[in-house]
Amino acid sequence: MPYIIKRTPTGYKVCLKSDPKKCFSKEGIPLERAKKQMQSIAISEKNRSLFGGLKPLTARLGGKVLLKKELVDKYFPKSYSTYVEPFVGGGSVYFYKDKLDHKEVVNDIDPLIYTIFKGFQKYPEDKIANDVNGDYSKADFEKIVSTKPSTDYDIFKKAFLINRLSFFARSKTFGKPRINATFKGYNKRLDGVTILNQDWKKVVKDYNDKNTFFYLDPPAVAADSAFTYPAVDVGELKKVCDEIKGKFCLSYPDRDDIEKVFSKYNCNKITTKYVGDRTTGGQTVTSTEWVITNYKEGSARPKRSKRSEPFEEVLKSKGIQPEDYLKLVKNVAKSKGYDPDSISFADDGVHKLVYDSPNGIRKFGSAPLNDYIIYNMKEGIDFEKGTAEKKRYAYHKRFTDGKAHEKYSPWELSLNILW
Ligand SMILES: C[S@@+](CC[C@H](N)C(=O)[O-])C[C@H]1O[C@@H](n2cnc3c(N)ncnc32)[C@H](O)[C@@H]1O
Repeated sequence: MPYIIKRTPTGYKVCLKSDPKKCFSKEGIPLERAKKQMQSIAISEKNRSLFGGLKPLTARLGGKVLLKKELVDKYFPKSYSTYVEPFVGGGSVYFYKDKLDHKEVVNDIDPLIYTIFKGFQKYPEDKIANDVNGDYSKADFEKIVSTKPSTDYDIFKKAFLINRLSFFARSKTFGKPRINATFKGYNKRLDGVTILNQDWKKVVKDYNDKNTFFYLDPPAVAADSAFTYPAVDVGELKKVCDEIKGKFCLSYPDRDDIEKVFSKYNCNKITTKYVGDRTTGGQTVTSTEWVITNYKEGSARPKRSKRSEPFEEVLKSKGIQPEDYLKLVKNVAKSKGYDPDSISFADDGVHKLVYDSPNGIRKFGSAPLNDYIIYNMKEGIDFEKGTAEKKRYAYHKRFTDGKAHEKYSPWELSLNILW
């Protein structure tokens, strides 16, 4: 573990082992809290790259930097096992989305993109940061462009530098004078990811499977000095989309014919902003974009259930004995300062449990959904090892809002006992 707990005059602090002056809190805290803090820092470090939220590696013209959140949070599907992005570009959508337990395939026809992604998969991010961070002039840029590196690492470094330092990552003219980043998280994020440098149609064909989800963000503007690769023909795009056996989400700038061509799919028109190019003086410009899917649901939170089976029946259908589940719930409740004897099963087909609190009867947990306890009980049987921790991390990330909730509110009861 790269952290230590240090004793200070004001209490204990969690600090970096490599640099004990760098600590995670300004003031000292009690030892027990410091231990918990160290654990959660380690978990979040471990999971950080699995939970997305990383910035793109390069700023591609047409990159979805400002649209990624809406796309991923609202339009991406809930379930799939393989994620394939045939036009990955700088990866703004790819690095924003969670990795979790998906198999991932990213592709771009641009060999520079391929070299950059491969480099961040292969070389330690600390070394990359050490070698590329700094201030650069136009003359430095031109010197880098003229070098002829021979080792794989130097080829990668040149590809990354000319991309990152150039105007709109076109690798042509000098535009950005500084690189200052830790690049933390990219090694882990790209670990095990298939990185390809092929034409998009081959990639769709090779990974066309009912469990695959394709996110397609094709070039939509004719090749010119700004765009090296020509726009993908819309008729061809439709033909390939028609062949997709799994799910796809296609984003495409607004054009008169799009809705008509893709009329058999779900077409949503959304307003977005792009970071503009030289013609807009680099200002953001508002534009409309089509988001087209061959599925209905988005990845938004599951809708609250209507009445269904009582929770005890739900547990039995999962192969869990209700009394075993309740025993675990009561143990956790006790450890979190709740009265275990106040908990019983709900039978309304909506909630999981009932807590007889000093402030009244409280029902909590959504009967049809899994929770940390269920994931834990079924790990190695129905779920891969590690699922429970990943799901718990995601739940806490989503439901820890920094606000004070009443101890017996369904919010707190679920967070503290079920997760
Ligand atoms: C609109 S950009 C993708 C931007 C990306 N979604 C992002 O947010 O960074 C389109 C990408 O498709 C790539 N591309 C163009 N033609 C291609 C083809 N025939 N096959 C695969 N990739 C292609 C381009 O190099 C470019 O990086």
